[in-house]
Amino acid sequence: MELLFLILSSIVFSIFLYHGFDLHRKRKMPPGPAGLPIIGNLLDLGPKPHESLAKLSQKHGPLMTIRLGSITSVVASTPDAAREILQRKDEACSGRIVPDAVTALDNHEAAVLWIPPNDEWRTIRKALNTFLTHQHKLDTLRDLREKVVDGMLEFLEESGKKKASVDIGKLAFAVALNQMSNTCLSQNVTSYESDDIGGFKTAVKTLMEVDGKFNIADIFPVLKPLDPQNIRRQAKAAYDWFDEVTEGFIKERLKHRKQVERFGDMLDSLLDYSENNDTDFNLIHIKTLLVDLFLAGTETSSNTTEWAMTELLLNPDMFSRLREEVSKIVGENGKIQEEKILDLPYLNAVIKETMRLHLSVPLLVPHKTETKVELGKYTVPKNTQILVNAWAIARDARYWKDPLMFNPERFMGKDQLDYKGQHFEFLPFGSGRRMCPGIPLAHRVVSLMVASFVYHFDWTLPHPKEEMDMSDIFGITLLRSTPLLACPISVK
Ligand code: HEM
Repeated sequence: MELLFLILSSIVFSIFLYHGFDLHRKRKMPPGPAGLPIIGNLLDLGPKPHESLAKLSQKHGPLMTIRLGSITSVVASTPDAAREILQRKDEACSGRIVPDAVTALDNHEAAVLWIPPNDEWRTIRKALNTFLTHQHKLDTLRDLREKVVDGMLEFLEESGKKKASVDIGKLAFAVALNQMSNTCLSQNVTSYESDDIGGFKTAVKTLMEVDGKFNIADIFPVLKPLDPQNIRRQAKAAYDWFDEVTEGFIKERLKHRKQVERFGDMLDSLLDYSENNDTDFNLIHIKTLLVDLFLAGTETSSNTTEWAMTELLLNPDMFSRLREEVSKIVGENGKIQEEKILDLPYLNAVIKETMRLHLSVPLLVPHKTETKVELGKYTVPKNTQILVNAWAIARDARYWKDPLMFNPERFMGKDQLDYKGQHFEFLPFGSGRRMCPGIPLAHRVVSLMVASFVYHFDWTLPHPKEEMDMSDIFGITLLRSTPLLACPISVK
């Protein structure tokens, strides 16, 4: 009872604190749905905010204001509105609102995902780019990535022999995790058979889940000390685990670097950057960056792969066409080499179309205004949350013919229609200064997995394809509501 009273009075207090300013702001802010006292538009959003916001924007326009508790947000729902935010007013709109769960990470103030776009953030992005944007550095680790895929193929062979269905999303997650750990640390961190309780799989899954949960303390900041849904406490256990493990990897590597040759992976690259540049980029940044990379790059890649396979299993003609394309570049040893698949037009079109229709991060990672800013004819105050509904834009019939159809053909012969942030109707990786730095790696990891699934195996579904559940669950990434299960039959 006391707790309830405390929560209610805190809510009223925060409304009093923040709402007063809102009254003044409202006149110049973009229009939006009328909200209820205290909770604002919370009930308008429901469990699938990307869908509800898309519907609301049809009534209220491409730039719309919504209010959740004491947090005011502006939502962009057309390519032009996205361009205004991510390109024209990029500098003012590239802050972040830090979710309460993330503050459980001891060094979240050094985390590239969450810090404001200041000098420290620029240094971290620079250090990251010394590895991620250099194709030759990514090439150096090609053998390791191909080995990860060999392990995956062995697992699938065995499952096929036993006629066992495989949970493709779960497998793709473990593979993406090993691809990330090989890129960062030159080693595997999980296996395909076990659930790796207490290890990397659990830590990354837990954090993706809790960081993506709706948290009442995020919209009523005065509740933060109470952590009423226990979210920060759950996140803390996983972040602490990560902290200890990454620190161990770094200590080990520092010893190793004194004795033997470099691995040439991301960790070496970051340590080189820290040693050779006169900046404040230090071991805390490196440790925190490793955590960020596992979180930002694993589930996004596996979930894109799972959706691509879902669509390919529903569309056998596309599956066959892709297999034919991949067959042409497979070497005599029957292996798919990463460098040969990166420019396959149909494979690229399938992956782009998957990213359009099943956008992995539907509202991007929320941005925040760093200063007062003019967006079109509106004035938006400092510290307003900015959401870009990339999901809605990618399914809007004004920009895409038959937008709900899976049709890779729309990307064929259109190499210029890319996901590198220049085409505001297609933003799976965002755009502007906060755009995803992991595109070259994501491209390799997803392409290698999809090509291998399609080339090496026929697949049978445990149900008629008409019964495939295509619904999704909103979180940091848009996951399938039901796992994709299929039995692999080797075509050797
Ligand atoms: C299919 C896979 C992926 C998708 C769909 C994806 C998508 C995104 C999106 C939408 C953002 C937010 C952009 C914004 O706020 O405007 C982002 C940020 C980020 N991504 Fe990715 N990503 C993927 C893979 C990766 C990989 C493999 C890595 C690492 C190697 C990575 C590292 C990051 C980082 C560090 C950020 C934060 C950047 C910042 O705040 O400055 N991502 N990603």
